Amino acid sequence: MIVCLCHRISDRDIERHARDGVRDFESLQDETCIARNCACCEDCAREIFEAARQRCRGEAPAAVAA
Ligand code: FES
Repeated sequence: MIVCLCHRISDRDIERHARDGVRDFESLQDETCIARNCACCEDCAREIFEAARQRCRGEAPAAVAA
């Protein structure tokens, strides 16, 4: 699924960066420019990134609000 339409970044791209050691959302932005144009994707991108980071740390991801 494409998360950031402006920069064509998918959920898999975000998860790959998290697996590769990107530690915080700002670093993800530095590498991908995600959420640095219209920022419509920011909330979703942050949730996907944080869930991926938690999986990398062996934690269960927090429930996502509906
Ligand atoms: S959709 Fe991500 S910056 Fe516009």
